[in-house]
Amino acid sequence: MLHSTLDVLRSILHLLPAGLRRRFWIIAAGMGLVSVVEMLFIACVALFASASTAPESILGSERLAPLRHAAGAAFPASATELLIILSCVMLLLVLAKNAGAWMLTQASSTFCARVDATVGEMLLQRFLRRQYLWHLGRHSADLVTLLTWRREVGSALTFQAMQGMNELLVAAVSVLTLIAWAPLASAIIMAVLTLAAVIVLRVVRPGIDRHAQRWTRFDMAANKAATTALHGIKDIKASGRGQAFFDAYRRNVRTAADADAVTRVLGTSPQWLLETAGIFALCGVTLYLTLGAGADAAEITGTLALLGVAAWRALPAVNRLLIRVANIRRALPQTLRIIDVLQSPFAADQQGNDELPPLRGAITFSNVSFCYGENGRPALDNISPVFRAGTMTGIVGASGAGKSTIADMLTGLLPVQQGSITMDDTPLTPRTMACWRSRVGYVGQKPYIIDGTLAENIAFVPQGGSFDRQRVLECCRMAGMDFVRHLPQQEDTPIGERGARLSGGQAQRVALARALYGRPQVLVLDEATSALDKGSEDIIRHTIRSLAHNYTVIVIAHRLSTIEDCDSLIWLDNGTVRMQGPAAQVLPQYRQFLALAAQRAQN
Ligand SMILES: Nc1ncnc2c1ncn2[C@@H]1O[C@H](COP(=O)(O)OP(=O)(O)O)[C@@H](O)[C@H]1O
Ligand SMILES: [Mg+2]
Repeated sequence: MLHSTLDVLRSILHLLPAGLRRRFWIIAAGMGLVSVVEMLFIACVALFASASTAPESILGSERLAPLRHAAGAAFPASATELLIILSCVMLLLVLAKNAGAWMLTQASSTFCARVDATVGEMLLQRFLRRQYLWHLGRHSADLVTLLTWRREVGSALTFQAMQGMNELLVAAVSVLTLIAWAPLASAIIMAVLTLAAVIVLRVVRPGIDRHAQRWTRFDMAANKAATTALHGIKDIKASGRGQAFFDAYRRNVRTAADADAVTRVLGTSPQWLLETAGIFALCGVTLYLTLGAGADAAEITGTLALLGVAAWRALPAVNRLLIRVANIRRALPQTLRIIDVLQSPFAADQQGNDELPPLRGAITFSNVSFCYGENGRPALDNISPVFRAGTMTGIVGASGAGKSTIADMLTGLLPVQQGSITMDDTPLTPRTMACWRSRVGYVGQKPYIIDGTLAENIAFVPQGGSFDRQRVLECCRMAGMDFVRHLPQQEDTPIGERGARLSGGQAQRVALARALYGRPQVLVLDEATSALDKGSEDIIRHTIRSLAHNYTVIVIAHRLSTIEDCDSLIWLDNGTVRMQGPAAQVLPQYRQFLALAAQRAQN
């Protein structure tokens, strides 16, 4: 048990930055120091108790002879002197001990809170650096849940482990003090306590482990259910299926809550057992000393005081230690998941910073294939389309033909699995990816609108971020966003989470303005005008047409009107290129094909 907890702690430390790791060791050293002061304090209290009832037992003690000899004249000669000296030492020690303990609590709390924050940062950074393809196979709610579990790493597990180490030291020091003073009595007490602790842990731990894992699993499922219900609020309300989504959440959240409650109950149960065992042992030792061993009054008082102090310090320390072990076990499954994420190697996105020369000739796909799954049907099958610089290329084809897959490869979201993509003569590789992405502006069918103002959405900065207002207004004009004038605060109007306060067409224009904001050379529009009415589409078509001289534009569209202006067309069919050439050649054929398909559907 301790072994695996220490392993987990070591893994956490290993993942942390060097500065935090150093802080951990400083705090650990401080804990050791405070424990030593604690030991001296306990010894002093016991001496004080003996000195107040039977001073001659100390003044004439054989055990203290070396100390008396070393101190010479400074050694107290009378009972009063002895009590005064012991009082002073005791006061100094209690001051040092408690000040130290307070500072340690402060240092360890701050440290653990920083661990939480650091773990959160490391997780999000990893998620953001992961390839887009990895994200396609994940539920974002699960990732958010992992982020919220960061507290289990720092404030729960690490904090409990640090405090546990402290208590272990205090308990060990108390035991040492006791053993030095009253070997037999303390041996009995320790044996009873250790036995009780071992029994309790053996019984309780597997239960905690099992329920903590249940809690972890269902907590994640509950968060996922809640996110699903809230993200789909419009469709859920419209379909009247709210209750079903609520039930899914309730099932998971209740199971999680029950499992969590069991871990808590199991975690606190050891203390009752242990306290009972401790008092039994104390009574037993007292009876043995008075009746069995026939010890004198001073010895009994001294030993009892020592036992009392030790029990007062050691028993609660052992108790707290057990509770901490339980708390650590509770936090273990979530912490292990996080450690697993942080330790597993992954292919990061955008590794290099190689510059690309400005695009002059063409973007060329050569024998490119792409497959989403491990062994699924290829979404693109050995295709070699070419996109000439300064022209507008359209991609047409039925749903599922692979149009969006090409768009996502052009933007560098999907990796080149087979074949190659080049910008003039420079291939798209991880080294050139960052520069490539800065050259490409992308507008999708369902643009992601962030919870911020219109301007923040165009500049695509987090809420409150800084942006170039002049450029924002310029892009608004280019994207035909005349509706901005009618908004209550123009470009500073908040537009709501996921663009709840925008129409589909307005959101697409925001996305177009956003794509233009970064002054790209290449513009990829994937069904970017599908939600626009005829009038708005005409405005944007005009915009795009006028941009096409300076940009390389790639337009994917269902509607033929959208691609009428294209210089060349690529007709995709089931992941392969069926036809490619000047629009004047391809478009009539494609029209004919559509007409035939429509006729067939009618018959
Ligand atoms: N994330 C994904 N995981 C698995 N298959 C996908 C994924 N995205 C698209 N596909 C599949 O790849 C093929 C091409 O899809 P896509 O490029 O989106 O088509 P289009 O944009 O032409 O409608 C389709 O068969 C689709 O089912
Ligand atoms: Mg598509």
